[in-house]
Amino acid sequence: MSSPHERPRPRREQAADGAAGALRPHQRPGAEPIIQFRNVRKAFGRQVVYEDLSLDVFPGETLTIIGGSGQGKSVMLKLLIGLLRADGGSIQAFGQEVTTLAERDLLHLRSKVAMLFQGAALFDSMSVEENIKYPLIEHGWGTAAEMDQRVDEVLHMVDMPGVQKKKPSELSGGMRKRVGLARAIAIQPEVILYDEPTTGLDPINVRRINGLILSLQQRLGVTSVVVTHDMDTVFTVTDRLAMVYEKRIAFAGTPEEARNAELRYLREFVQGGWGTLDEDL
Ligand SMILES: Nc1ncnc2c1ncn2[C@@H]1O[C@H](COP(=O)(O)OP(=O)(O)O)[C@@H](O)[C@H]1O
Ligand SMILES: [Mg+2]
Repeated sequence: MSSPHERPRPRREQAADGAAGALRPHQRPGAEPIIQFRNVRKAFGRQVVYEDLSLDVFPGETLTIIGGSGQGKSVMLKLLIGLLRADGGSIQAFGQEVTTLAERDLLHLRSKVAMLFQGAALFDSMSVEENIKYPLIEHGWGTAAEMDQRVDEVLHMVDMPGVQKKKPSELSGGMRKRVGLARAIAIQPEVILYDEPTTGLDPINVRRINGLILSLQQRLGVTSVVVTHDMDTVFTVTDRLAMVYEKRIAFAGTPEEARNAELRYLREFVQGGWGTLDEDL
């Protein structure tokens, strides 16, 4: 793994290197999306969050979701893993229709699509180890010894070896995020959903988390969907960018295409004008 202190190089620089310049997943001819939102509608009472949400996610890519506070970014991720139910339209993951899946099948889906919740959402009363074992037990992951080994492995992956016995309250915000990430990757998901993984962190921890997102994608080949307002995140980890605006995905494309897009809000966001958009979260 590259040092978390080292700022990962932007994709565009990597792409100039020849070998690393192979086509990104979404550019491969005939690439089939692993996840498809089609004409999804979602309202809470009379408050319509999505009128017509359509979006593709391709295997192996890192897709960044941006958009203003309260626009529905977290709702989109929760719809995808069935924590919220759509009112209409279709959501397919791995060829399965998620909107009509039974609870027990949703559990199976969540072993393939893991989510790092906003604020890490660790159980405060449990140790780090117990937190990470929680999904392992839920998904019937091996013997006690195998689980111990897996906890050790994933803590190494997030550069936090040896904190098994600590309580979340003993850790800094950045460390809690990394433990949350360790918990999310413990069950070896194919897709990782990150909800605001760097919000509230200092710049060093922002870079460290961005470095981890990138290295997990590169080393494990996972598909990542990253909700963020942080431009450092956008430009270090992104293959494609999608923007939630006016109850739908108003734009999906490469960061380069976003820079040149006609949408004023998108351009302003990409040029940094919306840098502190989600400060209130
Ligand atoms: N479980 C819920 N019940 C009612 N309203 C909700 C629920 N979850 C989200 N909302 C509302 O849906 C809108 C979008 O929320 P959210 O996806 O959390 O926004 P964000 O883009 O900041 O992540 C907000 O107005 C929020 O209040
Ligand atoms: Mg949110």
